[in-house]
Amino acid sequence: MKGIILAGGLGTRLFPLTKVTNKHLLPVYNKPMIYYPIEALINAGIRDILIVTGGSSAGDFLKLIGNGKEFGLKHVNYTYQEGEGGIAQALGLAEFFADNDKIVVVLGDNIIEKNIKRQVEDFEKQKKGAKILLQKVKDPQRFGVPVFSKIAREQESRGAGEEGNKIIKIEEKPKEPKSDFAVTGIYMYDSRVFDIIKTLKPSDRGELEITDVNNNYIEKSEMTYDILDGWWTDAGTFDSLLYASKMVAETGANKMK
Ligand code: G1P
Repeated sequence: MKGIILAGGLGTRLFPLTKVTNKHLLPVYNKPMIYYPIEALINAGIRDILIVTGGSSAGDFLKLIGNGKEFGLKHVNYTYQEGEGGIAQALGLAEFFADNDKIVVVLGDNIIEKNIKRQVEDFEKQKKGAKILLQKVKDPQRFGVPVFSKIAREQESRGAGEEGNKIIKIEEKPKEPKSDFAVTGIYMYDSRVFDIIKTLKPSDRGELEITDVNNNYIEKSEMTYDILDGWWTDAGTFDSLLYASKMVAETGANKMK
């Protein structure tokens, strides 16, 4: 399996921190943000990695990461996203790199306490389709939110993760979330994801949405999900960037156990 880190975008929610640099180069406690998704993939046994970047500081990624020596890698792949067409558009640029292999996609501002080794191994065994990872959050309206089948809602606290609880759709940043879960920015896809991306239309915010990709797999009944172990956060707003630094400082990130 191959790994893809999406580290483009303009990072407007962090303006003016992102006025002269890319969001994913900003510090999260003692490391640049992009280090965390790289480590997350390596901990899952993935060493063939593509970084999709963009904006005006793209060259700084090369300077910072180079061939990945600091991470024990011999080579890192890079590609460049022009403009801000959304997560799914950035992922579309990885088709050549993926070369019909299954992929694990991590958003460059997503940080996890533990690791995704078990889930990646499960997806390796999955014949086709996609897999998403969920985490319970206090502010689901900020994220993609799974809507579960009736059975799941009745079980409430046991809810997600229980066998038989199906996701019927994902709602992107709903005003009234139908569950307490966020769809984290860690996605696993088979090679048909690139065909799906080619059929997408821009959303109201003018972007190709990863939620539309995921809903396409859900409609085909080819989506599985799991719950992440440990804490998870994005770092794309002032509050979440501060929270990420605090959590990394207090407990550390990307632990193997
Ligand atoms: C994106 C996705 C959203 C997901 C989130 C995870 O949101 O659109 O579904 O829950 O990443 O970090 P964004 O941060 O681009 O608004």
